[in-house]
Amino acid sequence: MSKNILITGAGSGIGRDAAFALAARGHQVWASTETAEQAQSLRAESQTQGVSLQVLQMDITQEVDRHQVNDLAIDVLINNAGVGESGALAEVPMDKVRRVFEVNLFATLALTQEVLRGMVARERGTVLMVSSIAGRVPVPFLMPYGMSKFALSAAGAAMRAEMDRLHKNIHIALIEPGAIHTGFNQRMTASKYSWMDPSSYFWPVRERLMAEEKRSFAFLEARDTRSIVVQIVKAAEAARPRLRYVAPRWQGWGVRLARILGV
Ligand SMILES: NC(=O)c1ccc[n+]([C@@H]2O[C@H](COP(=O)([O-])OP(=O)(O)OC[C@H]3O[C@@H](n4cnc5c(N)ncnc54)[C@H](OP(=O)(O)O)[C@@H]3O)[C@@H](O)[C@H]2O)c1
Repeated sequence: MSKNILITGAGSGIGRDAAFALAARGHQVWASTETAEQAQSLRAESQTQGVSLQVLQMDITQEVDRHQVNDLAIDVLINNAGVGESGALAEVPMDKVRRVFEVNLFATLALTQEVLRGMVARERGTVLMVSSIAGRVPVPFLMPYGMSKFALSAAGAAMRAEMDRLHKNIHIALIEPGAIHTGFNQRMTASKYSWMDPSSYFWPVRERLMAEEKRSFAFLEARDTRSIVVQIVKAAEAARPRLRYVAPRWQGWGVRLARILGV
């Protein structure tokens, strides 16, 4: 059955690909982008591909932008918008930690609350939180981002139990991508080198760190978004979605193993 779906951060990467995949399956998709330029190019691309997408510009950190959802009868909200930030917790500037939490947690929660009002009134809905497997295993030098995803996953799991108690047919689920090549990880790992200077504790080893990051993402990253898009579609269409949807699957097993080993 066709659903009304709003996806945030659809100007690129996983969000963009999920928006096209959901629209191609006959859903009414509102694809929202952070900037007007992204909205324009997404509109042009949907016309070229002959796929029907309703594109809107919404910076989720802006209250006035978030209010746009009040005019939409949303069945499924996909909280995909997110930013990365890396650096050692011993020295990362706190404004950078606050910014990543502002987008990945606070704005995401604020938008969810706004959309839930309509869902509760209509007594149906699904909210997908695009978290990360970096929200289940602590990764050194990635924790400004990882902490925000730990918090988002915890919030999503608790909100799921709260909504179950309300008996209004509202389901909350977590989408947990592993490393996927969208450019996100490269931008995130590079971010710390913009503020690290010779006074940084890790300055003497930065080149080794850079080489390790490059090697590990070259090994870990899935080449495209297909596996996680399949999971997003599955969760969006499920009558009763599970708590977690993970892809690529082998990275999910890696997380389980890491947790068994007590990492
Ligand atoms: N790629 C991975 O390996 C991976 C792994 C685990 C989880 N994830 C998660 O998957 C989601 C999508 O990531 P991706 O890999 O597809 O990277 P991406 O292409 O950078 O997608 C993130 C999108 O969110 C948008 N965004 C950022 N701040 C926003 C704001 N304030 N309001 C609205 N949109 C905003 C970005 O817009 P701009 O381009 O303007 O910044 C971008 O279009 C993120 O939540 C990310 O944390 C990704």
